[in-house]
Order: sequence, then C-alpha cells, then structure tokens
Amino acid sequence: MLRQVARRLMSNMPENTVYGGPKPQSPSRRVTLTHLRQKHRRGEPITVVTAYDYPSAVHIDSAGIDVCLVGDSAAMVVHGHDTTLPISIDQMLVHCRAVARGASRPLLVGDLPFGSYESSSSQAVDTAVRFLKEGGMDAIKLEGGAPSRITAAKAIVEAGIAVMGHVGLTPQAISVLGGFRPQGKTVTSAVKVVETALALQEAGCFSVVLECVPAPVAAAATSALQIPTIGIGAGQFCSGQVLVYHDLLGMLQHPHHAKVTPKFCKQFGHVGDAINKALSEYKQEVENRSFPGAAHTPYRISANDVDGFLNELQKMGLNEAATAAAAAAENVETAGRPSEDTC
Ligand code: KIV
Repeated sequence: MLRQVARRLMSNMPENTVYGGPKPQSPSRRVTLTHLRQKHRRGEPITVVTAYDYPSAVHIDSAGIDVCLVGDSAAMVVHGHDTTLPISIDQMLVHCRAVARGASRPLLVGDLPFGSYESSSSQAVDTAVRFLKEGGMDAIKLEGGAPSRITAAKAIVEAGIAVMGHVGLTPQAISVLGGFRPQGKTVTSAVKVVETALALQEAGCFSVVLECVPAPVAAAATSALQIPTIGIGAGQFCSGQVLVYHDLLGMLQHPHHAKVTPKFCKQFGHVGDAINKALSEYKQEVENRSFPGAAHTPYRISANDVDGFLNELQKMGLNEAATAAAAAAENVETAGRPSEDTC
C-alpha cells in the first residue's frame, strides 16, 4: 500500500490517463473534441479554415485556428476543376498528409470525397479509416443527410472515428440540387436542414457544417442542436465559422477563379494581387538582368582559386569559358559581396 502511494506520488501520470505520461503543456498541443466542446459550452466561436498543403497548414497553425479542414474544395481551388466531384481518395490523402506535417495544433478533419462513401456503410468506414491511418487526420467530414448517409456516419463513429456532418448546400450533390444553390429557402427545405442536422447529431457527429442557408435557419439549427454548428454562408448565428483558405485570402485573382469565390466570402486579404505583383517584378528583373544582383550572389571563390580555375579551363581548351569566368570574377569583385556563411 505504502509502495503504491509512493509510486503515485512519484508518477507524473494523471489518474485519468491509462497509457503514457502527460504531454508537455505547450500552446502547440493538439485541439481535441473536448476543447471544442468546452469552447462551445462557453459560447466562444469555433474557427475553421481549409488547408490543402504544408504552407497553408503552417499558416493556419500559426494563426491559432481551431480546426483545419482538408476540404474536397481542393478539387476547385487547387486542381482547377469547376466542381468538387473529380477529386479522388488518393489525391485527398496527399493533401491530408501535407497538411498533417504542417499543422500540429488544430484538429485535423479530412473531407471524404464524392464516390468514396455513398455505396455502403462499410465503404464509408473503410475510407474514413484510410483518412486517419494514411492521411494523418483526427476526424472526417461527410456531406448530406439521406438515411444511408446517417447510417454511414453512425458506423464511422462506431468504428472510433469522429465525424463532422455537412448540410444545406452540399456541393457533392449539385447534380440533384441543380447547381450551387442555397438551401433552406422554403418552409420544407428549412425544416429539412434542421431535421437533417438533428439526425446527424443523433448519429454521433461532433459538429455539423451549415452551408449557404438563410440566417434564421442556421439560428434554429444552432439552437436545436447540442453539438456546434459551423457556418459558411449561413450568417452569424452559428457556433463557429469556416471559410476556404484561398477565398478568405483573396488569393484567386485569375478570371477563371473569380467564379469559384462565393459571394458570402469576405476577402480578409488580397494575396492574389501581392502574388501577381511579385511575379511580374521577378519577370521584369530577370529580363532586365537586375536580378540576381550582388546581394543575391553569395557564394565566393578566392582570387587564387579563380586563377587556378582559369588555368585549368585554358588547359582544357575552354578559352571562352575562361574569359567568361574572369569577367564574372571581376564583376563580382567590383559589385561587393554578401556573407556566404549559410544558404
Ligand atoms: O470542401 C470544403 O472546403 C468544405 C467547406 C466549404 C465546408 O466542405
């Protein structure tokens, strides 16, 4: 008994931990469903942003965003398709792995792509398992609320995988919705949004995305549900908000992409303009030979070694190359050089 007490006193393992010691309490600790529930209970808005690659994930991590969604919107904003339908599981998994390497703090949610979970619950569970095992995700998202979809969500939760639902405009269903159209605009459609969200909650989902529905419909769903609602084009009465990375940064300035930036999206930056400006300045400076100047030509060769090098070139019969090297050495000498200690 005494030994047990001593062991407990010496242990730094909390009593509710079964395996392993506690993780260091650092701000970079992974957000969990418990954190989201606590935020929701305190009435604090949950922040969600999509990411598709390592750099976007790093930015989302540094900004302290709660949830990083590897959305199938990758099909449109990364791969340039007009809809989300073409993206495959394998393509999504590549995005997931890159995001998992870049974001150590946000909860990572992977979007099951069209065609990867509709046939049966076992297909849905198999795909969801791949997103965790091969994609490094913490949870998955699936769209829609047809009875088969509710059964699939329940089966995935029963397999031990957290599920985020998605109702309202579900872009994978544009074939039956008749395009990217807002939902919940009639009594029947509004009731369906709320009923579907409730059914997804009943199936065990930890939250539900409400996409492109009128604010009163989102407010009703948010009030009726115990789990958080995450709005996109659904107004302010949701438990949290999600936006697509490229849309919120104002990244897609190309005319081809203007059509995929939705009207509900506020552009919090104009990154596309900054990218265009940087690229055209680069092109101009390369073309007028002002880049790379001395400041960006850091690697040195000593005057002795230049002489030796020129001799070797001449011995090899490469007289023009020797002249070019001598001229370059002269030019660098007169321009002055930066430090070359690191790359
Ligand atoms: O794929 C996606 O980016 C999404 C969000 C818009 C919710 O599903």
